[in-house]
Parts: sequence; C-alpha cells; structure tokens
Amino acid sequence: MPAGQQPILELQGITKSFGGVEALRGVDFALSPGEIHGLVGENGAGKSTLMKIIAGVHTEFSGRFLIDGAETHFRSARDAHAAGIAMVHQELSVAPDLTVAENVFLGNQPTNQLGLVQWRRMAREAGEQLARFGIDVDPMSRLGDLPIGLQQLIEIARVLFSGARIVILDEPTSALSPPEVERLFATLRRLREQGTGIVFISHFIEDILRVSDTVTVFRNGRKVAETASTATSKGALIEAMIGRGGEVLEHSYNDELMLPRPSNSSVVLKVDQLSLARSLKDVSFEARAGEVLGIYGFMGCGQQELSRILFGKLRPDGGTLAVDGKARTFASTAAARRAGVALVPESRRAMLFHQEPVYKNISISILDRISSLLLKPAQERDIAKRQVQQLQIRPPVVGLDLGMLSGGNQQKVALAKWLTYPPKLLVLCEPTRGMDVGAKNDVINIVRDLRAKGLAIIVLSTEPETVLSLADRILVLKRGALVREFANEPVSKDRLLEAA
Ligand SMILES: Nc1ncnc2c1ncn2[C@@H]1O[C@H](COP(=O)(O)OP(=O)(O)O)[C@@H](O)[C@H]1O
Ligand SMILES: [Mg+2]
Repeated sequence: MPAGQQPILELQGITKSFGGVEALRGVDFALSPGEIHGLVGENGAGKSTLMKIIAGVHTEFSGRFLIDGAETHFRSARDAHAAGIAMVHQELSVAPDLTVAENVFLGNQPTNQLGLVQWRRMAREAGEQLARFGIDVDPMSRLGDLPIGLQQLIEIARVLFSGARIVILDEPTSALSPPEVERLFATLRRLREQGTGIVFISHFIEDILRVSDTVTVFRNGRKVAETASTATSKGALIEAMIGRGGEVLEHSYNDELMLPRPSNSSVVLKVDQLSLARSLKDVSFEARAGEVLGIYGFMGCGQQELSRILFGKLRPDGGTLAVDGKARTFASTAAARRAGVALVPESRRAMLFHQEPVYKNISISILDRISSLLLKPAQERDIAKRQVQQLQIRPPVVGLDLGMLSGGNQQKVALAKWLTYPPKLLVLCEPTRGMDVGAKNDVINIVRDLRAKGLAIIVLSTEPETVLSLADRILVLKRGALVREFANEPVSKDRLLEAA
C-alpha cells in the first residue's frame, strides 16, 4: 500500500469459523484505491471466506471491518453493494433464464420517469459494454443458452461495469482463453487508473504477478505473506502457499517423489489431437495397461470435458480416439462402455443408488455385462460380500442402504463395481476428494489392485496430492492444452504447481 494513503477497505484480526472449523484466524487485510491486490493460497486456505465477508455474504465473524477508516458492519450483501462493493463469485451466480442484457443490469435496470424498464436502452448499453470487453453477443439472447466461459465473461463484465469502488474477482479466469484473460487485465488496469480497488484471486500465479501490485498469501486460514509483486517470484509464492516442515500431519507431498520408468505395456487408449470448442486444444496422449496416468490441472482446465469425451457424453470437434488400436467415435455412454471404458465421475451420487442396498449397487455393473437372468439373488449377494470384505467397506453389511455409508465407503462401492468384471480403461475424476485419511488410503489400495489386474487407469484431479499419491506418470493440463509430462523423474507438489 502506498504510504500515507488511507485504505478504502481495512480488515483487522478477522476470525471466522463454520461449526467447529476455523476458516480464518486473525487475518489483517487492507486495500487502497487504485490498487490491484492478488490473493493466492491452496484450496481451502480461506480466500473465498474472507472475500464473502467483505461482500456481506458472511455477516457473522469477529474482528474489525473499516471502510474509508470508519468501522462498518454489513448485515447483508445488499449493504455491501450499497457501499460500492461488487464481487464475481467463484461459483457462477448469473440468472440463466434472463437475457444477457438483464444479467448485465441485474438489479440496476435503467427506468424512465414512470419507473418502467427501458428495454431498448438497456439492450443497447449492455451491447456496448460487452463490446468494449470484446464480447460479441446478442444482448437479447437467453444467458443460459451460451457456453459457460461466455457466461462467466458476461458476469465479470457486469461487475466491472457496475461502477463499484471495490471489485472482487474470485478465480474468474479458470474458464477463460488467453485473449480473454488479456482483455480482462486491460480492463482491470483501466479501472485501477480510475481509482477502483481490486482484489484478484487466481491459481495462475503468473497472472497474479503480471497484474497485481500487491500479493497476499493464505495458508490454512492465516495470512502468511504480503509483498509487492515486483519483490517476489512464482517459486517464493508457491513455497509460502504450501509451507515447509512438518506442520501438517497427513503426508503433504512437499518432498520429491520419484516416478517410475514409463510402462511399455500395450497402449489401451490413444488420444490424438483432441479438441473441443473453448475447452480442449490438440490434446494427445496414450494410456497403457497396468499404468495409472494422472492428469492434473486447475479447475476449468478441461479435465471434465476430457472425461466426458472419453465416456461418450460429449462429442469432440476434432481429433481421434482409439481403444486397443481400434478407432472409436463414441456416440453414447453405452458405446463407450461396450468398448471397455468405465467412468467414476466426481459426482458419485449420479452413479450410485442411495435407496438401494450395497450389494445391488455393486452388481449393477455386472448386470450390464451378463444377463440378469443368469445371476441369482444369492449369487449377487455372494459376489458383493466378497468385495465388501476385500475392500474393507464399513460397515460390512451388504443389505444396508448405500445412503447410510460415509462418502469414503460409498466411493469404495463405486470402485468395487469394477473389480469383478474389470473394464479396459477406468477413468476416475477426483477419486479421493473430501475423504479422511483412512478412506483415502483404502481408495489408493483399490486403485493399485485394479492396476495390478492390468487396467489402464486415468486419474483426473485438481488436487496435486491426489495425482501424486496415485499416478505413475503425470500430465499437466493448462487452459485446455497439455503443457508438461512428468515421467521417470522426480516430482513434487511445487513442481506440479509450477507447471500448471
Ligand atoms: N459455507 C461453509 N460452510 C462450512 N465450511 C465452509 C464454508 N465455506 C467455506 N468453508 C470451509 O472454510 C475453509 C476455507 O474455505 P474457502 O474460504 O472456500 O477457501 P479457498 O477459497 O481459499 O479455497 C475450508 O475448510 C472450507 O471447507
Ligand atoms: Mg475459493
């Protein structure tokens, strides 16, 4: 912060907990007019929570909150809005059923003397604003019909042009293409000239260093560093983000890990020059039998789209897929399954039947392959019992409704399905997210068993720990393109973050 200047916003000793969990502990934070303040930290560090306090979303917390030097307490997001604070949330908060123009002017529509909305003026001005931002779209189209990346851009434009004095952008660039990021930065710099205070959160540290004046690092609910952007580096920021030494009990993967020599077993999946609209660009790789291939990248990097293409839920715009040397174009998930591809998506809920007993959930994939007429209920239970034992599913009762099990045990059930009649290729999305250490280790062991059976396994994750704990070889996906392969070499969390 430039010396002698009064901050527009100042937070002192902010502590916030959710139930028993302390999300923020004694955090100080200040923002000056005409400052771009970058915020970095691992997932769960507390960045969004602090921003939601500033934006009036969380109103219960302890500590002091000052605007223009005066102590303030917002009771709602509306109060924050009235004080000139606008935020683009990490989760899109657009109104999909309204038009683009209505979204741009949300809660702020131009009216005439009679209080009627001036539609034509609104559409024209919305169109002009968006054009300044490089967005060419009919202001009267329904927002929900546009691609997600474009919806995100429109949301950003709305906030940037709202006239707010304090603008908060929480991970806005994850789904943006490089030219869109450039346009965003040009606009941020223009707003800075006009004296707007801006907070910018991103996982892309190069972006943070390029656009911010100041960078603050969060770790575990605390502010661990604050520095001028010109006085730090990507490496130093990553080090501050992940910390050093034994402060975390769980294996933190801060140390180097040696990846094995790449497998030369048969190629199960060959992906060549795959591309998809805004999401994937010329993605080529191979997955081999008996190998776990990790694909790491930030949220929005194209992982989800890739997994959906592999499982026949999305058609790519270009490129080819081959399974066991046979070219495939999956017209449906059924076609992908017949070719031997199985997917365990992140939202496991979609794949499991919570009102059905555990054994049914396990046998469902089996019924897919052999006629249900051939499988007697007793057999069905026997197969399930063996798997429940092998996988240490707790409690080991196959008749229990699946919904009664913990998330980790549900994930084990989701994987158990593939042990009896293994597919050729198993695609796992965020296989250990939100699990306790015990369940994570169980899942790691199941994946290793599946690998030993000769399956080709692809693990897609936004958590470095997940790919480091599972993968034999790691690809880094960045804004839809593969930018780095780690194989037969040392790898660590900071090296992954550095590459992404
Ligand atoms: N609404 C909520 N209810 C309960 N816990 C929450 C809520 N929001 C965040 N948390 C928890 O607070 C911590 C910080 O989360 P968050 O601020 O979202 O981190 P970041 O934005 O840095 O990834 C995490 O442990 C998260 O699980
Ligand atoms: Mg966040």
